[in-house]
Amino acid sequence: METSAPAKIILFGEHAVVYGQPAIAIPVTSLRVRVNVEVQPVGAGLILYLPTVRGEGIHIPTLTAADDEISLAFAVRSALTHWGLIAPPDLALTLYSDIPQGRGLGSGAAVSAALIRALATALGREISNDTLNGLVYEVEKKHHGTPSGIDNTVIVYEQPVYFVRGEPIQPLQIKTPFTLLIGDTGYGTPTHVPVGDVRRLMETRPEKYQPIIAQIGEIAHTARDAIESGNIGILGELMNENHGLLQRLTVSSVELDVLCETALEAGAWGAKMSGGGRGGNMLALVEDSQAETVMKALTSAGAARVVKTRVRG
Ligand code: PMV
Repeated sequence: METSAPAKIILFGEHAVVYGQPAIAIPVTSLRVRVNVEVQPVGAGLILYLPTVRGEGIHIPTLTAADDEISLAFAVRSALTHWGLIAPPDLALTLYSDIPQGRGLGSGAAVSAALIRALATALGREISNDTLNGLVYEVEKKHHGTPSGIDNTVIVYEQPVYFVRGEPIQPLQIKTPFTLLIGDTGYGTPTHVPVGDVRRLMETRPEKYQPIIAQIGEIAHTARDAIESGNIGILGELMNENHGLLQRLTVSSVELDVLCETALEAGAWGAKMSGGGRGGNMLALVEDSQAETVMKALTSAGAARVVKTRVRG
């Protein structure tokens, strides 16, 4: 049996979302983590295999807190504890992932979600998306400091969301589908680094940086109205504005800026970095007829990979 979870991208509002502003995130259903489950002989214990990440399996015989530094082990232990189980079940879980790690595509949350779903299926337990979301958020918190919760939310529910930290999720209706290109700079910086830097800027120069955060929030708000009313025409400009504000927050990078400029020169309607920044991925909004040209331009400008995704409700 197999379970899975998708990647995600943040379309608007990263960083500002940490300070209570809204953000819009979208699942990327073509990039997934899949977990295959096989029952093992009694006493075999729980083994995780990650062929796309490392060759050998991680054997989890006892599931003590000592294993928690391995985020996969912590995800497993949290789920088993939730079901009142102490001993690990006799299972082999093999993870296959299309989602690169540390590039703002939600790899960590997708792995946790697919893994816990696999355990639930193998153990015959029902798990609601609400419960799963809570468990995945705990793993995110343990390994990424103070995450806003946007990754686990969009990945677990696998639907576009308008997200405000601490508030119930608001599904986003996509009136008119649109096409995005996701361009990978080929490197990444752990999210907590730019998040920490923005926090320091906010603490030392709030009069300068608080208005930037507020403007990003305004953009996310305007973008929601545009997406829900099918006014795709203004999304490109909003993306460009959002990117400029993220540059001012110091979280973009030369490579991200080059890819965004390249996309615009090749005919994209808008472009911005996505996620924590300082590497990772950028997004370009394109008319379908332009997609090929923009993809080629991004690759020539150094993108390690370009993925095309159609955003629909
Ligand atoms: O780099 P990502 O996609 O994991 O996104 C981080 C988004 C931030 O807003 C920068 C942080 C957060 O926890 O929301």
